[in-house]
Amino acid sequence: MMCHFTSLKRRMNLPVMMALLFVLTGQPSAVSAAEKTSAAKPTPEVAAKIERAKAAIGTFKTALQSALKTAIKEQGLEGAISVCNVKAPAIAAELSQQKDLKISRTALRLRNPANKADDWEEEMMAQFKARHKKGEPLTPMAAYKMEEGEFRFLKAIPTSGLCLKCHGSSVKPALLTKIKSLYPMDEATGFLAGDLRGAFSVTISPDTLEKR
Ligand code: HEC
Repeated sequence: MMCHFTSLKRRMNLPVMMALLFVLTGQPSAVSAAEKTSAAKPTPEVAAKIERAKAAIGTFKTALQSALKTAIKEQGLEGAISVCNVKAPAIAAELSQQKDLKISRTALRLRNPANKADDWEEEMMAQFKARHKKGEPLTPMAAYKMEEGEFRFLKAIPTSGLCLKCHGSSVKPALLTKIKSLYPMDEATGFLAGDLRGAFSVTISPDTLEKR
């Protein structure tokens, strides 16, 4: 199911954030694209967390896609939308617990306001969009940061053909009515194949003292 679940804790308060932004100015490696060759090489500790986050996203993506495909096959597109709200949070919660991290999806243009990005996610997605516009492929695009021991990872989600049925510019009227009734604030239509649809977000809490 491609629907959503979100509960990333907004950990940082504004003054801390502003101070950090100030400190980090001019040091792109501190908040950098994970896959960019220009970025400083991550420490082994960070590299291990990047791999953990990527693995969790891979599992999440596969689970969402298979749930979505099954729901569409069994209940059609309209039915799939109703199933979304029930199954997606369950998948995300189970995976988060299993992998000892928090995983969710977010976007700049939302269907469900509960998936709203925080400041860092929003800024990184704006950068993804700008880099994509300049011709960089979305597929390996990602960003990470490590702050006070908390690791965060964000990976771009491109729009594929299947997504257009519910997020494209010619969503069937009956389906659109159903979407609007569940999500009156929906902003997540009008996407084209290949557009940045949103991002997977992973947070790994600070390690325990012994592990550090
Ligand atoms: C059956 C219709 C349907 C299809 C097909 C579909 N989505 Fe969605 N999508 C939804 C619904 C409904 C939500 C809102 C879920 C919720 O309540 O969290 C959503 C939410 C999302 C979100 C979370 C951000 C937001 O806007 O709330 C992302 C990201 C997303 N979809 C990406 C995709 C991608 C990528 C594809 C194609 C692989 C896709 N969707 C296919 C219906 C669909």
